Amino acid sequence: MPDIEIAPPLDREKLASSDVRHFLDLDLVGQVELRRILDAGRRMKAAWQAEESTTWPGRLLNGRALAMIFEKPSTRTRVSFERAVKQLGGDAIVLERESSQLGRGETVADTARVLSRYVDAIMLRCTKEEKLLELAAHAEVPVINGLTDRTHPCQLMADVMTFEEHRGPIKDKIIAWSGDGNNMATSWVHAAAEFDFELRLAVPSELPPPADVIRWANERGARVHVTPDPAEAVRGADCVVTDVWISMGDTELTNNHNLLAPYRVDSDLMSMAKGDAVFMHCLPAHRGEEVSSKVIDGPQSVVWDEAENRLHAQKGILLWAMASELMD
Ligand code: CP
Ligand code: NVA
Repeated sequence: MPDIEIAPPLDREKLASSDVRHFLDLDLVGQVELRRILDAGRRMKAAWQAEESTTWPGRLLNGRALAMIFEKPSTRTRVSFERAVKQLGGDAIVLERESSQLGRGETVADTARVLSRYVDAIMLRCTKEEKLLELAAHAEVPVINGLTDRTHPCQLMADVMTFEEHRGPIKDKIIAWSGDGNNMATSWVHAAAEFDFELRLAVPSELPPPADVIRWANERGARVHVTPDPAEAVRGADCVVTDVWISMGDTELTNNHNLLAPYRVDSDLMSMAKGDAVFMHCLPAHRGEEVSSKVIDGPQSVVWDEAENRLHAQKGILLWAMASELMD
């Protein structure tokens, strides 16, 4: 099967400032709108949990539809987006690369043009960021980043929501990352700048986050520090985060296991954080690799709330993208 075709480089800032409300990355949405989205997500979570049919905004997306394109596997993103749009009265359609014409070489641009005639927003999970930008460049409806090799912004919205539910405002708190400098680490850097917290990234020197993202954070005056030492990052932190050693599409990097073993979040590492620190992980997890069972299944772990909050935070994203006039 041919790979999804990639077009020449596109200007992500220009795409983000178009009239269509794309949710491409946290740094492109900006702190005011990110807060608006989280507030809307929180309100909808409260209404959903109260099971009050009078307050539940179940028709906000009435008659609207979301298409979701998956070039990589997914459990949480797929189910939480589908439930979110349906709980708001809309509809969801899933397209997988291999079972759609994308897998037979139809261009991303043509797919964007066609889907824009059928649906009101498109979520894409893909490998290269360029495919996401290409989709946004040719879609007439909002495009949502459901994970690329570079970032995972929807996950970060759920992560910030979860941290704040457990520990209050994330502003000025200390978040410690221990692991690969991967797509999640990059979105944590964006989040540190947009939500104004201190981020300490413990990563092996062989697996750093993208240099341009660290440069961007420094230029913004964000409190982002990179170290090879997990203890240095975790000491006194309010939250410890990690992620898989091998991300989707990384199969050739089996040496990651050797490089990342010292970055495993176990009880010893966790004990260096604040006594009330929370442990977070976007999931799926590999117990015994990046995190011990004792930590992920222990009292400081908030990973199930984090997974649930994908649903609530994404309701905010969907509303912002498709019907922002109904948000506040
Ligand atoms: N965290 C996350 O995005 O999970 P999935 O890969 O299952 O969607
Ligand atoms: N870094 C992981 C995140 C999965 C949600 C991956 O890309 O596979």
